[in-house]
Amino acid sequence: MTTITVNLGARSYPIHIEAGSLAAAGARLAPLARGRTMAIVTDANLTGHLATLQASLTQNGVASEAIVLPPGEGSKSWATLETLCDRLLDLGIERGDHVVALGGGVIGDLVGFACAILKRGCQFVQIPTSLLAQVDSSVGGKTAINTRAGKNLIGAFHQPAMVLIDPQLLDTLPIRELRAGYAEVVKYGLIDDFAFFEWCEANGAALLAGDVALRTHAIAHSVAAKARIVAADEHETTGTRALLNLGHTFGHALEAETGFSQALIHGEGVAAGCALAFRFSAAQGICPGQDATRVAAHWRAVGLPDGLAAAGISATGARLVDHMRHDKKMAAGTLPFLLARGIGQTYLDKTVNLSTVAGFLDAEAR
Ligand code: GLY
Repeated sequence: MTTITVNLGARSYPIHIEAGSLAAAGARLAPLARGRTMAIVTDANLTGHLATLQASLTQNGVASEAIVLPPGEGSKSWATLETLCDRLLDLGIERGDHVVALGGGVIGDLVGFACAILKRGCQFVQIPTSLLAQVDSSVGGKTAINTRAGKNLIGAFHQPAMVLIDPQLLDTLPIRELRAGYAEVVKYGLIDDFAFFEWCEANGAALLAGDVALRTHAIAHSVAAKARIVAADEHETTGTRALLNLGHTFGHALEAETGFSQALIHGEGVAAGCALAFRFSAAQGICPGQDATRVAAHWRAVGLPDGLAAAGISATGARLVDHMRHDKKMAAGTLPFLLARGIGQTYLDKTVNLSTVAGFLDAEAR
């Protein structure tokens, strides 16, 4: 069992990581239940995990009520938020209660936001079931829904009270989703940890193939990095937390071009976006070309897209930059970019000219 703490003063919380721990989650949750019925929110693809969790709660004397939502990004909506809040109110949830979010990023973001606003804030616990949620979205308190105008535009910072991570849950995750989550793992190496990038190069394929010890190590390392960054800059005001957006500005444009469809799922967009951010940095003379080549080679080695063609994108640079202009990070007409001086040396650059980016993307497409 590895436990990592997100240090946020009175709102600090533990992240417990252990293979097989879902079946024992009841013992951890019982003190939070305080003798009351626990609400568990999950999606219809996760009823097996739900049964495991409910059995463990029963064994520990905790009654539970499940709210099962439709799977998929469509549930991060005003309509589902309303349904969920009404169901939680019908259950009589109080501010001191802990709602359990059992699922991937969609469930975590939606439940977290519902708990941020329910009775002006109630508690919640994250039990992430996808690699992407285990290494990124379940930690740090970013919660949101999507609207007509874009993704994650309505939300709040609301930290969970506890995160329980069971790497064994990844055994049933489709390989494409596993790979997409792995892009966020490697991202921590690219940001500021060259040795971890080398570890990923050496172990990524075996991790994806199913080695639970390697998965557990990668998750613990990633979560420790994220906990450090969130503790330093909870609300993304100093620039430290913005480092987590490496690959996301380029990636967001590619995802927008595919209509945020299954043609390019988020982690795949992040992988291609990181490759582009490194090649853009190299093209500007900021980063050694061999580092950009090395990032792209690792994505190819594990079956992730390393650029526009591999991501199935044939749009012009101008069109992709237009998608970037709708990015919520746009401020006073400029868009901050995460660029790199090398692998493990990412920094925030607020001086990037969008027409230079468009020219670079046109050259990438040729
Ligand atoms: N996923 C980026 C962040 O949590 O800040």
